[in-house]
Amino acid sequence: MLKRTHSCGQLRASDTGKKVNLCGWVDSYRDHGNLVFIDLRDRYGITQLVFNPQSQPEMHKLSRQLRCEWVIGSSGTVRMRGEGLTNPKLPSGEIEIMIDKLEILNTAETPPFEISEAENVDEELRLKYRYIDLRRPEVQERFRIRHRVTKIARDFYDSEGFWEIETPFLGKSTPEGARDFLVPSRLCSGSFYALPQSPQLFKQVLMVSGMDKYFQIVRCFRDEDPRADRQAEFTQIDVEMSFVQSDDVIDVNERLVAKVFKEILGIEVKTPIRRMDYKQAIDEYGVDRPDMRFEMKLKNISDIAAQCQFKVFSDTIAKGGVVKGICAVGGGVKFSRSDIEKTFTGIVTDFGAKGLAWFKVIVDEQTKKADLSSNLAKFFTPQQRQQIIEKFGAKPDDLLLFIADTPAAANKALAPLRIKLGRALGLIDDNRYEFVWVMDFPLFEWNEKENRFDSLHHPFTAPVPEDIGKLDTDPASIRSQAYDIVVNGSEIGGGSIRIHQPQIQAKVFDLLKITRKQAEDRFGFFLQALKYGAPPHGGIAFGLDRLIMLLTKTDNIRDVIAFPKTQKGQCLLTDAPSGVEQAQLDELNLRVQTHH
Ligand code: AMO
Ligand code: AMP
Repeated sequence: MLKRTHSCGQLRASDTGKKVNLCGWVDSYRDHGNLVFIDLRDRYGITQLVFNPQSQPEMHKLSRQLRCEWVIGSSGTVRMRGEGLTNPKLPSGEIEIMIDKLEILNTAETPPFEISEAENVDEELRLKYRYIDLRRPEVQERFRIRHRVTKIARDFYDSEGFWEIETPFLGKSTPEGARDFLVPSRLCSGSFYALPQSPQLFKQVLMVSGMDKYFQIVRCFRDEDPRADRQAEFTQIDVEMSFVQSDDVIDVNERLVAKVFKEILGIEVKTPIRRMDYKQAIDEYGVDRPDMRFEMKLKNISDIAAQCQFKVFSDTIAKGGVVKGICAVGGGVKFSRSDIEKTFTGIVTDFGAKGLAWFKVIVDEQTKKADLSSNLAKFFTPQQRQQIIEKFGAKPDDLLLFIADTPAAANKALAPLRIKLGRALGLIDDNRYEFVWVMDFPLFEWNEKENRFDSLHHPFTAPVPEDIGKLDTDPASIRSQAYDIVVNGSEIGGGSIRIHQPQIQAKVFDLLKITRKQAEDRFGFFLQALKYGAPPHGGIAFGLDRLIMLLTKTDNIRDVIAFPKTQKGQCLLTDAPSGVEQAQLDELNLRVQTHH
């Protein structure tokens, strides 16, 4: 085999006259009868090869057999392309290689899709032939960036004194709010390992062990339905530190974020990154991961709605609900009735809202003042209409949209509506990155169905010290020492200061209605560890995949994972998950029951 001397992305005009060997894949071939041109591709780029029948009749003949994606080695001389034949789109576009030796290293079947056309090919087909999909330069670029980010992270944490320590995959359940993947044990028949939803408990145990500063770039497994930004198997940059408070964890980790954005995109992230409390995020954006690239904040008009004649509004308030809404600036002229009553109403009802009330802001012919117009306007006094306009600072041609419901339900529907409106109005700049730490989360949220509290983050999150007294009296009002980092509406990381006192941890389990027995069975080892000198500690985990999505501007998490799974959790390349041999089941003492 010819030994490569250069890559296909390397040669330039200044290399003219050099004797070179190139290896790669046939990206395209053009047979002009007298000359054959091959675009040869590798990870580094594309270089044009030329085969001449006069000077190299044998090689020219051989080159006519070549087809797309065949693998070849070649040897020749760099020369300038003829006048007018340079390709300004290719970095190597000024030169070509006059080939005197060709080796066919492998043939290839006709690919199921053309690499250059793959953008328009069904994703399922691309995932089935992922090795071909992964040959695409723009796809490879995402993995170069992913590699860069993990390298930057490793070097950064190393320089800050962190050690990368691996934690087990075969372990016990760690609650992060999802279902566990279970692995049956052969040696302990009838017992199961759980794949880690995160290394949470192990990293805390490492703090008890005096490791002081830990990080790990680690796979996590959560058996939940995949979504655009969620996979069952994903990667965290996981961090834990001892003798720290929230500010210490935030400081070091936001410096990593700034470094990554600087080195990958050349963007200066202003540190310290701004902070917002959870309540403000929910009030103004309807979610705890606000997209702050545009304003259009939600407003609460419950005080006005309570007095109005529109029963849907007044009844909702009477039942303890809210009326919240948003002002789409210019939306009154920009959007049609069908946009409002089909598209926007469709979005909010998809998210559980019962309806969407709307008003256009117009100029009243007589008074020449702004007023509200819609078939609901008559249920509001002129004064109420003015109050609503004032609340939003609305101008003629704006569109006001409202949802009456419980606060949680109204926010749940308004948050995606806000994003949709922001997009439709062209307010979202995809080249801008707005960072925010969301802080002061409640420690618990009430679980109506199960009549108990749930942890908003996970059960190991510490309450703020002033609120510890309320564990017995008013758990719902306790704030946690948790922080999430949000970029452009995507939660790229989250963490907290942890509980390091066993008695407080036990109390939290009580409120979550985890019995002493369950706590003992599931986390006994951990409660035990807390009793042997656990230092105060805290940490964070970044969702690496989500971070790469932002850096590569894709909204599909599968684009940034080499071998991702589909919505149904399948790997189309390998066909996992699949059935197993009876002998394997027997060895594990398992029987598969088929349901009818
Ligand atoms: P959390 O559950 O918030 O915290 O996860 C941390 C970050 O991981 C990313 N993430 C995911 N990415 C892709 N697919 C998923 N299914 C998925 N789930 C989460 C998110 C999220 O912000 N142990 C704690 C961290 C800590 O407290 O230190 C934890 O796992 O970007
Ligand atoms: P209806 O009284 O059901 O005919 O609804 C009249 C208007 O109020 C329609 O535009 C509905 O979409 C809207 N609407 C109904 N329920 C709600 C609600 N909970 N919040 C906001 N608007 C609503």
